[in-house]
Amino acid sequence: MAAWYSFIDLFLSRLDAEAAHGVALRALRSGLLPADRRPDARSLAVEVWGRSLPNPIGLAAGFDKNAEVPDAMLALGFGLVEIGRVTPQTQDGNPRPRLFRLAEDRGVINRMGFPGQGLDAVRSRLAIRPRRGFVGVNVGANKDSTDRAADYVICCVALAPYADYLVCNVSSPNTPGLRNLQGRTQLADLLKRVQDAIAARPVPLVVKVAPDASDDDLDDIVAVCRELRMDGIIVGNTTLSRPPSLQSHWRGEAGGLSGAPLAALSTEVLRRTAQRVERQFPLIGCGGVSSGADAYAKIRAGASLVQLYSALVYEGPPLVRRIKDELAALLARDGFASVSDAVGADL
Ligand SMILES: Cc1cc2nc3c(=O)[nH]c(=O)nc-3n(C[C@H](O)[C@H](O)[C@H](O)COP(=O)(O)O)c2cc1C
Repeated sequence: MAAWYSFIDLFLSRLDAEAAHGVALRALRSGLLPADRRPDARSLAVEVWGRSLPNPIGLAAGFDKNAEVPDAMLALGFGLVEIGRVTPQTQDGNPRPRLFRLAEDRGVINRMGFPGQGLDAVRSRLAIRPRRGFVGVNVGANKDSTDRAADYVICCVALAPYADYLVCNVSSPNTPGLRNLQGRTQLADLLKRVQDAIAARPVPLVVKVAPDASDDDLDDIVAVCRELRMDGIIVGNTTLSRPPSLQSHWRGEAGGLSGAPLAALSTEVLRRTAQRVERQFPLIGCGGVSSGADAYAKIRAGASLVQLYSALVYEGPPLVRRIKDELAALLARDGFASVSDAVGADL
């Protein structure tokens, strides 16, 4: 951890996890955090959906739910930033406490239940923002919605003009019944409705799945995505499983587990997804990335892009530069001239 950040971390780690997140957002909004202006190694550049990105390391959904700091996060050195998830209506989410740091395990459990300011607030912010960098929008359904698929359609149509890609998040464990949308018929219906609705203004459309998906689930999900010629899959969201190795006294809390304890599981599910996708579209690997080696493992397992969130809680902004430097060194060590040469190397 960089010296300047260990000082800030001393303060943040003493706060309740959600309060610390609020402080981090305020600091980012104020422009107080140093930007990383060092250019990325040429080997890190990636091409995806016809666009060139300086590096494949992305911020995962959930950190910037309301699109308050996408540019500040790009300035930290991320190659892509995903905002949201966005729901049509504002909602409060679950009662607090609902976010727990499992410090001994370098993990996080959350049962936020998607608090958010809703579509209008997010659209207003994105509409006045100059388009730069690569910013995706993660969308979902309100908890009490009677037609969940319609919520995805509403958000995608409204936000497509401002998004470099759209994500249908059907894998949050904290909205009861949401993961049922991963079932073959429901998923096909949902994604087809969204595709049709944004056909006039096509934006790469990807689906985010749970790392708890079984082989049968993956067969269905990938078959639907291939049939519909989707643009990608993110593997994946937080897990409901609890590895026996967890040490923290928070380990029994309900919610989705993320961070280091999720790394191996999510990379394995990514690999099994990649075997089924057969390079028909790009995959985004997410779950437990906290080093260049973790990112490299996801790339070798089939990911063209990688995302992270929880490691940022422990290491702060210097993490992004460290991961990029380590990844560039690993590519060079193994003789890969670029990230794309290494995609799927372990398959
Ligand atoms: C506090 C918190 C909130 C999250 N909110 C969302 C969300 O709104 N939408 C989503 O698709 N994923 C959400 N996620 C999941 C992350 O995007 C990511 O998939 C997961 O945490 C695994 O990555 P990580 O181990 O690097 O954190 C959230 C995760 C955390 C910890």
